[in-house]
Formats: sequence, C-alpha cells, structure tokens
Amino acid sequence: MMKQEIRPRRLRENAVLRRMVRETRVSADALIWPIFIREGENIKEEIPSLPGQFHYSPDRIDEAAEAALKAGVPSLLLFGLPAHKDECGSEAWNEQGALQAGIRRLKERYPELYIITDVCMCEYTSHGHCGILTDHRVDNDKTLPCLARIALSHVQAGADMVAPSDMMDGRIAAIRQLLDENGYSQRPIMSYSAKYASAFYGPFRDAAGSAPAFGDRKGYQMDPHNSREALKESLLDVEEGADILMVKPALAYLDIVRMIKESTTLPLAAYSVSGEYAMIKAAAAQGLINEYAVMCESAVSIFRAGADLLISYYAPELAEAIRKGDMG
Ligand code: PBG
Repeated sequence: MMKQEIRPRRLRENAVLRRMVRETRVSADALIWPIFIREGENIKEEIPSLPGQFHYSPDRIDEAAEAALKAGVPSLLLFGLPAHKDECGSEAWNEQGALQAGIRRLKERYPELYIITDVCMCEYTSHGHCGILTDHRVDNDKTLPCLARIALSHVQAGADMVAPSDMMDGRIAAIRQLLDENGYSQRPIMSYSAKYASAFYGPFRDAAGSAPAFGDRKGYQMDPHNSREALKESLLDVEEGADILMVKPALAYLDIVRMIKESTTLPLAAYSVSGEYAMIKAAAAQGLINEYAVMCESAVSIFRAGADLLISYYAPELAEAIRKGDMG
C-alpha cells in the first residue's frame, strides 16, 4: 500500500480554507489605545517622535475618543503631562490636573469608552524618575503612598481601571488597599507586572518629557536578560490583587508573553511600545517596508504568543484592519 503522505500545504492552497483553519483570531475588542493629555487649551499637536500620535489638551480630548469609537477601539490608556514638575511629582494627584480633567470629560461624554489610566510619577517629577528620591535613589517605600494617592485621584475622576507602570515592590497591594478603603473595591488594576528596562521606550520619553535627568531605570525596571524574574514579578502581583497582568515591551519579549500566559490564569496584556511603533513608521517612511502589512503581522504575532489584550499606538488602524478582514 502507498504510504500516506503528510502534506501541510493541502490546507494552504485555498484562501477560504486558510482562513477557516487559522489558529489565531483577533478582535478589535482586545485593543487599547494610549493617549497623551497635556495641560493647556485648544491643543492637538502631533508628537514628533510618534508620527500620527498627538498631545491633546483636555478640551480637545473628544477627538481621540471619537476616533477610537469610530474605529471600534473600546478602550483608551491615558497618560498625563503636567505644566509644572517638582521633586515629588505632586501634580500627579491634583484633582484639577489635565489628566483628571480629561478623565471627567471623557466619562461624561463617552460613557461607553473604557478608560484606563497609567499610574506613575516619571511624567510629573523634575528628575524624571518613577518615584520619590532619597539620596539620588528611588525610595520604594516612600513612593508607595504617592502611587496609591495618584490611583485614587484617577478613579475619583472616573477612571474605570488603573495601570501602575512604576515597578515599585508592593505597589499593587498599596493601591488596592487605598481604593478599597475609599469604596472603589470594584475598580480593577492592570499591573505593568513584567516591565523591562528597555531602550524601546525612547520615543515615549520624548513625548512625555520623562527621560530620567540622571542615571537610568535599571534599579526598578527588569533586566532584559531575565525571564524567570518576570514570572516572579507576575505571581507577586497576582498575590497582591492584580486583575490583569502585562508584559512590556511586546515584540522583543514574546517568549515572556508565552511564559506568563502558560503560568498564570489572569488576562494578559502586551504593550507594543513607542519604539516598536516608531521603527515601523521610520522604515515605512523610507520605503523599506509595507507599513500596513508589518503592522498587521506584528500585532498577530503578539496575540499568537498568548496576549489577550494589545496596547498599541496603531489601535485604530488595527481595528480597521480587523474589520476589513485583513487580520483574521
Ligand atoms: C511610565 C511609562 C513609560 C511607558 C509607559 N509608562 C516610560 C518608561 O517607563 O520610561 C513607555 C511606553 C512606550 O514606550 O510606549 N513609567
């Protein structure tokens, strides 16, 4: 009898069948779009390091909301940029701050939009570090109450969920406790649980004016050489009460995405960061790659690795690609 040949190509030659047997299916419901809200009025200004992304003042934030909803992106991740910075980043929990004003406006006008806020201090401190300093070092335990206070100010303004990105030890527990004490036990926390000290954040730091004035973030963000440490950090955050975990950056850390997905039970987000976006934009501007195709393929690879949610500056374009059937 003739040997039965195994021919994987049988499943590839017909376009309909190819779609039928796809392993990874992507939905716009899984997309989150990062947005920068800046102190001021009547501002919508393109960010030079992130072409196609903008700084908005609170009074013009509607334009971002409408673009998201029109494309079918259900959620924004908001970053605040203050007019004034100080040593302890006190503007970060100002009820009248640009971010808090933006949250209030969005929740009033677009209640269906799910609002997540980045909780950190680096955009607000004069030294650009993600916490309070003691002798030129970030003081973990002094920083915790500040982070909790920032998170509380966000939920009081109406944020649906907070996302601490500082990488201090114990911050999830500290935030959870303060939110619970103030009657916000139902507001979830998405933890930037495995956040690496990455050079891929470069364009963001330009956009947010948050590059550290001295030193680097290696004392609190993770060493790119490590993977088990990501699991340790993630499991600690689970214990402290995180509701969603995150791996950041995404493309250079897909092994971490896969590992955390297999070793935990919480929903997992991946943050495709500013440098990933800027690299695609720059290569496309030079005619070296097809921007649309690379955008789609990159996003699919992140979902294929195991991400449930994708935070991406391309969120509206990806939603559109999904709608057109270009991503499966
Ligand atoms: C704040 C924060 C950063 C990013 C998200 N939250 C910058 C950093 O840690 O230096 C980076 C996002 C991006 O690069 O798109 N700590």
